[in-house]
Amino acid sequence: MMPDAEPLPLIERPRRLRRHPGLRGIARETHLSAANLIAPLFVKDIGAPEPIASMPGQQRLPIETLVEEARTLVELGVPGIALFPAIDDALKTPDASGALDPDGLYPRAIRAVKDAVPELLVITDTALDPYSSDGHDGLVADGQILNDETVALMQQIAVLHADCGADIIAPSDMMDGRVGAIRDALDTTGHTDTAILSYTAKYASAYYGPFRDALDSAPRKRAGIPADKKTYQMDPANSDEALRELRLDLEEGADLVMVKPAVPYLDVIHRVRAASDVPVAAYHVSGEYAMLHAAAQKGWLDLEATALEALIGIRRAGADAILTYFAKDAAQWLREADPGV
Ligand code: PBG
Repeated sequence: MMPDAEPLPLIERPRRLRRHPGLRGIARETHLSAANLIAPLFVKDIGAPEPIASMPGQQRLPIETLVEEARTLVELGVPGIALFPAIDDALKTPDASGALDPDGLYPRAIRAVKDAVPELLVITDTALDPYSSDGHDGLVADGQILNDETVALMQQIAVLHADCGADIIAPSDMMDGRVGAIRDALDTTGHTDTAILSYTAKYASAYYGPFRDALDSAPRKRAGIPADKKTYQMDPANSDEALRELRLDLEEGADLVMVKPAVPYLDVIHRVRAASDVPVAAYHVSGEYAMLHAAAQKGWLDLEATALEALIGIRRAGADAILTYFAKDAAQWLREADPGV
């Protein structure tokens, strides 16, 4: 039985704006489109695409398939990819020297994508972990991650990637001073228009697990090798420190800045957005992708709805661009929801 009720004497009824889809559209404060998304992709050297068990739907792609995927993404309106190389274990060394091979997998993949799909932005990573037999982003000596020696290598890697046509260099290693040093190296080699997307506030996060499966790049469990990345990646407890990293990156010439991971760090995205006069990116990382897939596989969550909710939440917090393994799916979902876009 419905209780009788006199109309409440309300002047404001926020629900009036939620009554009709058209009104909800007018009232919508934040928008998500394919143009906001960047797809991280994994490339491998030979053979067929290899599924990554902890990242359903993601694969290590041989260069040919990578190029096809790049074409599909452009057709869907996704402006760029962030490329990561899965290097054969036999080619990993303590000095990560494979990163400097101009005929290595990464340079070949960058050139192939830029040759075939020049309109797609290619973002490349300068960290050493794909090449390091220690599984660290920097050089390791006496159980320490060396800062300045690593930065000197990053400069060479950045120039190599720019020579291959990379549009944006993204140092994900968290060494101090790398943005300025890379800017300097790019400028003195004629790459004044190559942009730097700094991993400004990259946390020492447990959500990177599936990515490390994808590249087999977890810090190695050996004597003398630090078992985690806490001496260079940030403490999840801190956000003032993110603003300090932001100040340094902007002073050093970062063109775009990034917070990573995304959903557990929405407050950091918001603070960085407020303090930054350059575009802000957020990295919706492998573990954030894996957990939604895992729950969806169990029938506990709706994948499309929860993924799009995570992405709009990251936009609402202040991210202009989102690196996400959902990029292709989300672009497709958004197109189905609004074929005019
Ligand atoms: C390595 C790197 C990592 C990610 C991007 N670059 C892993 C790490 O720092 O250990 C993680 C991305 C993801 O989890 O999706 N420099």
